[in-house]
Amino acid sequence: MPSPVRVAIVGVGAVADYHHVPGIRIDPRAELVAICDPNEGLLQQRQTDWGPTKFVTDYEKIASDPDIDAVIIATPNFTHLPITIACLEGGKHVMCEKPLGLNFQEAARMFRAARDRNLRHMTAFTYRFAPSMRYLRHLLTSGSLGTPRHFRSQRFLDWPETSWGWRQYKETAGAGDLFDMTIHRIDFAHDLFGPIKSVCGAVAQFTPRDKTESGEACKPSEVDDWSALIGQFANGAVGVWEGSTVMKGHHNDGFGFEWAEINGSDGSAVYQLTDPNHILVGRSGGSMEKIAVPTKFLAPTGSPRDPQEGVPSTVFRYDLVWEFVSAIVEGRDAVPGFDDGALAQAVADAVLVSNDTRQWVDINADLG
Ligand SMILES: NC(=O)c1ccc[n+]([C@@H]2O[C@H](COP(=O)([O-])OP(=O)(O)OC[C@H]3O[C@@H](n4cnc5c(N)ncnc54)[C@H](O)[C@@H]3O)[C@@H](O)[C@H]2O)c1
Repeated sequence: MPSPVRVAIVGVGAVADYHHVPGIRIDPRAELVAICDPNEGLLQQRQTDWGPTKFVTDYEKIASDPDIDAVIIATPNFTHLPITIACLEGGKHVMCEKPLGLNFQEAARMFRAARDRNLRHMTAFTYRFAPSMRYLRHLLTSGSLGTPRHFRSQRFLDWPETSWGWRQYKETAGAGDLFDMTIHRIDFAHDLFGPIKSVCGAVAQFTPRDKTESGEACKPSEVDDWSALIGQFANGAVGVWEGSTVMKGHHNDGFGFEWAEINGSDGSAVYQLTDPNHILVGRSGGSMEKIAVPTKFLAPTGSPRDPQEGVPSTVFRYDLVWEFVSAIVEGRDAVPGFDDGALAQAVADAVLVSNDTRQWVDINADLG
């Protein structure tokens, strides 16, 4: 592998700017060499903001460029499958945004395509990298909380009720809050408790989103503004998840309200996105107490990030690129991989089936 790893970004919108580019910038093993987006105005703007790189409007040019080693795909959901397959066929390692595809079948196909070519693959499940989440996982796996019994996740955002653009149509997004927000929480529940085997889910739409931010009429939303599920894990524990993007008073400078809680036979522990360098811990007979995440969990070993720098709820996201590049350099699997992306997708798909059929749905996620 040439050093540094030559990275291209396909889709130069909000998330690429928010954490992928800063992640590349702080990793001396990585170099941003090319960007791709059909929006030429934005492409030009990014050249100014991010510095000069190759720039193209057609992702096939990225896929076939011999001077690119790895690609970060940060485009609307419906494009993840074709762009990923093209880049893998061009021999690139790929980190793709969540949701990996529009359904489990797409995501599983992406996994098989990467695995069968022995290329590194990663799903950008950001919140696994929060220091508090990493510490929660340690407490659980080291047995400090006893036998895992119960998981709870609540994620509320207070976003405008105007058009969500591509995010509000089934053809381009697949689903709303469920695929945008709750899928992250399904993933970190998998990481903490192991696979979910059965779910009962529901979704609801609260707002038509039939106007753009500037007040022009647009095609109304087809997707959920609220998603919820209860689930049974294969290990015998149970979980409950709820999320919405239109909960008033939960703005919190854009970070919203997020609470994830694990309850074991010996103790309970809580992660909150607004305070990711602390957790709450409680023991039987006592009360929940706030404790600092120990230094060794503030960033993964070897991460170039200084955990004392920046806004805590933002900067842990830079470790996504660090993990992707580490997997490439070390020739090992990246975590979370496309397999994790596909397994979370299977659960999210099952929530929609459960909502439609009004029944519990068993998860059948054969990756092939
Ligand atoms: N991991 C996270 O925490 C997180 C956060 C936000 C968004 N996301 C995910 O990232 C993806 C992008 O979200 P966003 O908020 O940046 O959206 P965005 O709309 O701001 O940006 C998407 C960009 O992709 C470009 N694009 C569309 N089709 C393309 C194509 N064929 N080739 C190249 N570029 C193309 C668009 O022009 C746009 O600039 C989505 O899948 C979303 O779910 C993940």
